[in-house]
Amino acid sequence: MNEAIRPGPGNPPQAQETPVLSVVVPTFNERDNVTVLYRRLETVLAGIAWEVVFVDDNSPDGTWDVVRALARRDNRVRCVRRIGRRGLSGACIEGILASSAPYAAVIDADLQHDETQLPKMLSLLVSGKADLVVGSRYIEGYKSEGFNKQRAGASALATEVAKKMLRVEIADPMSGFFMVRRDRFEQLAPKLSVHGFKILLDLVATAHGTLRAVEVPYTFGARQHGESKLDSMVALDFLGLVLAKLTNDIVSLRFILFAMVGGLGLVVHLATLFIALEVIKVPFAEAQAAGALVAMTSNFILNNFLTYRDQRLKGFALLRGLIAFYIVCSVGLLANVGVAFSVYDQEPIWWLAGMAGALMGVVWNYAMSGLFVWRKK
Ligand code: GDD
Ligand code: MN
Repeated sequence: MNEAIRPGPGNPPQAQETPVLSVVVPTFNERDNVTVLYRRLETVLAGIAWEVVFVDDNSPDGTWDVVRALARRDNRVRCVRRIGRRGLSGACIEGILASSAPYAAVIDADLQHDETQLPKMLSLLVSGKADLVVGSRYIEGYKSEGFNKQRAGASALATEVAKKMLRVEIADPMSGFFMVRRDRFEQLAPKLSVHGFKILLDLVATAHGTLRAVEVPYTFGARQHGESKLDSMVALDFLGLVLAKLTNDIVSLRFILFAMVGGLGLVVHLATLFIALEVIKVPFAEAQAAGALVAMTSNFILNNFLTYRDQRLKGFALLRGLIAFYIVCSVGLLANVGVAFSVYDQEPIWWLAGMAGALMGVVWNYAMSGLFVWRKK
């Protein structure tokens, strides 16, 4: 291994204070795992100047408190406690940016990743053989202990989609275990999405083949304490990321979700209109108004659960948000009809005018909702 990463004779004492490797650990409810991970890092990284940055999203189980206690004893340990924010990718990005070593690793807190690979990963970067080293579950030498059949299937499918559609060459772009050169990461960081789970895929897709990647196999272990935070929403996140990267980031994940909810809203609107007209038999104007109201309400609820689940409104803010959403959508409808009319005026093609209007409506609703309904505090 490179001499510069071993403090000792020939290396001044301050070398010890300047870490070569920053290990970033995203945590959410990992109270029982963080100390074990810290001990294991200490063992496996002996002889390397390292630091560890835990990024905790204000875990209800007080993970940050346990990390803080470790940090008081060992100044190589740091805790970033984020309040009012959730998200694995965002936590990893923030952790890497908060660290200072020339190489940064990301590893899960739950001991499912194999930390004994870290020295090998580091030497691959230090020797200049790679810009990115991925702990990969899919190449020779891989065996999995912590994966059920269903998840393995879904993961394999997502990997195929990512490889085909985004032309990502690595075998396991879904891995949450990797190490990267800081300078390359900093260049790409402004274009990364803070939403979702797939930070590595995002990194590789955003780099457009400019990151030289090497993979090392590891055993994906079983979780010891606590539970996985990956749910079915992850599939949605993944889809959004693929679409965003395909459109060169013009279309964001949030916008895609917002537009999908909008499309569903149209179905809800028509269904309500139908029921009001045919079943309850109210006049058309009332039925149409009811359709709009039901669709706006269901869109609001869905967006609050899905599109803006990281900034979910609760309690009084929910009511305030709903009213703001009604106002935004009403103006959006005016914009929609206005644009459709002027397009139709120029070119009397009904579907073209209709689509232009709908697009205007969704863009308006999206932009204004971000400003007035789910605004960042
Ligand atoms: N700060 C923060 N915020 N951390 C989070 C959040 C969050 O919202 N959600 C999850 N984490 C942390 C967990 O505490 C854990 O340390 C790590 O991120 C991974 O979360 P898990 O819930 O254990 O995910 P998993 O085991 O199902 O999937 C992991 O491994 C896969 C295979 O390598 C993830 O890393 C996947 O991205 C990866 O594909
Ligand atoms: Mn896990």
